[in-house]
Amino acid sequence: MRRPTNERGHLTIGGIDATVLADTYGTPLYVYDVEKIRENARSFVRTFEALDVKAQVAYASKAFSSIAMLQVAKEEGLSLDVVSQGEMYTAIEADFPPEKMHLHGNNKSVEELEMAIDMGIGCIVVDNFYELDLLEALLKEKEKRIDVLLRVTPGIEAHTHDYILTGQEDSKFGFDLSNGQAEAALKQLLHHDQILLKGLHCHIGSQIFETDGFIMAVRKLFDALEGWRDEHGFIPEVMNLGGGFGIRYTSEDEPLPLNMYVNELVKEVKRQAYDRDFELPEIWIEPGRSIVGDAGVTLYSVGSIKRIPDVRTYIAVNGGMTDNLRPALYNAKYAAAVANRMNEPLCETVSIAGKCCESGDMLIWDLEVPEIQSGDLLATFSTGAYGYSMANHYNRFPKAAVVFVENGEHQLVIQRESYQDTTRFDLPYTRG
Ligand code: LLP
Repeated sequence: MRRPTNERGHLTIGGIDATVLADTYGTPLYVYDVEKIRENARSFVRTFEALDVKAQVAYASKAFSSIAMLQVAKEEGLSLDVVSQGEMYTAIEADFPPEKMHLHGNNKSVEELEMAIDMGIGCIVVDNFYELDLLEALLKEKEKRIDVLLRVTPGIEAHTHDYILTGQEDSKFGFDLSNGQAEAALKQLLHHDQILLKGLHCHIGSQIFETDGFIMAVRKLFDALEGWRDEHGFIPEVMNLGGGFGIRYTSEDEPLPLNMYVNELVKEVKRQAYDRDFELPEIWIEPGRSIVGDAGVTLYSVGSIKRIPDVRTYIAVNGGMTDNLRPALYNAKYAAAVANRMNEPLCETVSIAGKCCESGDMLIWDLEVPEIQSGDLLATFSTGAYGYSMANHYNRFPKAAVVFVENGEHQLVIQRESYQDTTRFDLPYTRG
């Protein structure tokens, strides 16, 4: 893939020389092209607008949550999927309207539910009976009402190209459709005057490249809904189909254009609603990765180079599984380039190692690079989702900084942690 390069043969991100960013802020450095984030968000929002259906595009903030990011999400008119007190707190700090947030989670705490109720959250996605009981008790105590969606497991698990239709659902999330649990929850909700059931939610997986899984899910939801309308008179106002739209990490990935996912989803919901004589519900989605993933690049400095003749060359960078856990955790693949040698011919195959004390800390196996030296700048691409958000302090590495670039300007939006930060919460043991 051709990457943007300037006259010095350097990679540019949002029009800015990557070496300037590295010199200004240090490495490792997460850099986001904000125009790309906006473009991704708009392709979802505008497709719904063009189809003239009522919709909400909720950014799944687990992919990358920070005050600056949520400001951008708000500016783009997105709603927000939050899954914890921390994500809710960040959203409040970013001045994100609570009525546009949806709270998820398979084990929401009393504190999380209370925070959501007190701030007037848009809706809670109810996941299990334990939560329902907590919610009922809290609402009674507070004399408040709340909108909810019922999260169901439709028995479809989609990962990239594989769809597994499981007869017996096996997931820690949601109420099972097949064994009557979802219907029991529905009955409990319908008889509650402080909980308004707006509709159903399902999420079938992540990094999905085809629309069949979503289509299967829509059909399964309508199968259930048809029965529930007859039995219980329930008509949904909202159908939330989750996130999971795939992005390109390497040239092997072939994601669909984002508008295509929306087009196909809407087409199927319309078809099912029409065939079964339902009013068209509002369609909500929760993309995370597809909004921020390909907008992020991580910059590293190359350090030690270990050549094992006839075996492999290890190029070590000053980050690794602490700033990008995905290769170690999921065997995820990434594309990369030497950002200060973009026009030089590729002449060797190397493997990119992280600096953690762990053999599995490898970012990329077998990458074609030009002649590379210690001190060069390595850029890994499409690191915008689940990179910073899953960063950790293994080996007591401070977390890297995050910079936004837009309109030819760059700005620090998350500071680099210092070594003092690594012991900030440590207390000396005084009984020893
Ligand atoms: N909605 C729900 C209910 C979810 O569980 C998720 C992701 C999303 C939306 C957003 O999915 P996305 O559009 O980002 O695929 N750490 C993993 C991904 C975990 C996704 C968990 N749930 C990774 O790095 O690939």
